[in-house]
Amino acid sequence: MKRVAVLISGRGSNLQALLNAKQDAYKVVLVISNAPNAEGLERARQAGVEAITIDHRPFGKDREAFEREVDAALRARNIEIVALAGFMRVLTPFFVRAWAGRVVNIHPSLLPKYPGTNTHKRALEAGDCEHGATVHLVVEDVDAGDIVGQAAMTIEPGDTPQTLAQRLLAIEHDLYPRCLAQFARSLT
Ligand code: GRF
Repeated sequence: MKRVAVLISGRGSNLQALLNAKQDAYKVVLVISNAPNAEGLERARQAGVEAITIDHRPFGKDREAFEREVDAALRARNIEIVALAGFMRVLTPFFVRAWAGRVVNIHPSLLPKYPGTNTHKRALEAGDCEHGATVHLVVEDVDAGDIVGQAAMTIEPGDTPQTLAQRLLAIEHDLYPRCLAQFARSLT
């Protein structure tokens, strides 16, 4: 069982899916939020998982100083894999290098299409007939690392960014635990 920390900033529905999944490859042992009021913190505590806030705001523009705190918290608990789940901070080269090959993220598009934000709107505006989600390794370029797994869905007439986001979320909740388990098994 690989020891996983999940980094969140908000709702934490993907975190909930990772907590709920019945599998034997990973165990979520720590949740860190950069936002003190993140709903996901309570989800973790309900599941009996340690949940802490490391507020990024006191660090101002010094993103690396914030990440050094995160890094120390992870090392203190012998974390082996970091899973980003709605974590709204872009990681600096310091963190990405320190945890190279050990950080995964879930992104709401079929990468390499639509890295960054507003993915649902961009898929609609492009006239795509399908959309989806990707679990990928985190590298220095945003949303550019090796793909662990993807799941696609059909875009229907009348879809809006909101309906796409809602339908995709259920797909993410199935995809992320499967991909995290597969990734955990692939690590020595
Ligand atoms: C998800 O859509 C995920 O793909 C994106 O941010 C959202 C997080 O939602 N990275 P939640 O906090 O897991 O509910």
